[in-house]
Amino acid sequence: MFYEPQKGHGLPHNPLKAIVAPRPIGWIGTRSKEGALNLAPYSFFNIVCDTPPLLMFSSSGYKDSVAFIEETREFTANMVGEHLAKQMNATSVNAPRGVSEFDYAGLTAAPCEQIKASRVAEAYATLECVAVDIRQLKGRDGALADAYMVIGEVVGVHIDETILVDGLIDITKSRPVTRLGYMDFATTDTVYQMLRPKWGE
Ligand SMILES: Cc1cc2nc3c(=O)[nH]c(=O)nc-3n(C[C@H](O)[C@H](O)[C@H](O)COP(=O)(O)O)c2cc1C
Repeated sequence: MFYEPQKGHGLPHNPLKAIVAPRPIGWIGTRSKEGALNLAPYSFFNIVCDTPPLLMFSSSGYKDSVAFIEETREFTANMVGEHLAKQMNATSVNAPRGVSEFDYAGLTAAPCEQIKASRVAEAYATLECVAVDIRQLKGRDGALADAYMVIGEVVGVHIDETILVDGLIDITKSRPVTRLGYMDFATTDTVYQMLRPKWGE
């Protein structure tokens, strides 16, 4: 089948997010200028550059995470292992501004090294970030969407050493939770290697 998004897909549910799947989940920790803590999952999330180390997430609507980052320019991107899946989902609740989803989901808000936002102590890794760009997205017609993309530079990296084997991150130990389409999630637990081809071999 083929469809043009503007004309509709004719399927029971929009397949777009099931097509671009699995997506990693950035569990975004922020702090308001008054010091209120916030935590929410975002699957419009990825690393987009390694030198400098940049990552992005995108908010459908102007949510607390974006608002707090506009206030303080700082956030954490915490990574969700399988054992935290339910708590991650709990933090997606539409809590009133000022309510800490760390407390709501029974998570430990640990201090960061380089920034004032908190990190999830139970996460297998946390990237401490400083915002370099916050922009409202637009379509090809130039019309502004109700969507906001944050790009942050990673200024600090925490890794739970129990996921390291001979100095390498072992995904069978971190067991990252990923977002599929619809209400579906998957845990990544299968690994295989491929060498990059060399021209002429
Ligand atoms: C796995 C998962 C992924 C999500 N990804 C996004 C996303 O990419 N963008 C978005 O706007 N909301 C996303 N949400 C919904 C937000 O987490 C939810 O709206 C939350 O209340 C936002 O919190 P905040 O207002 O504190 O930022 C996701 C929810 C879940 C459970």
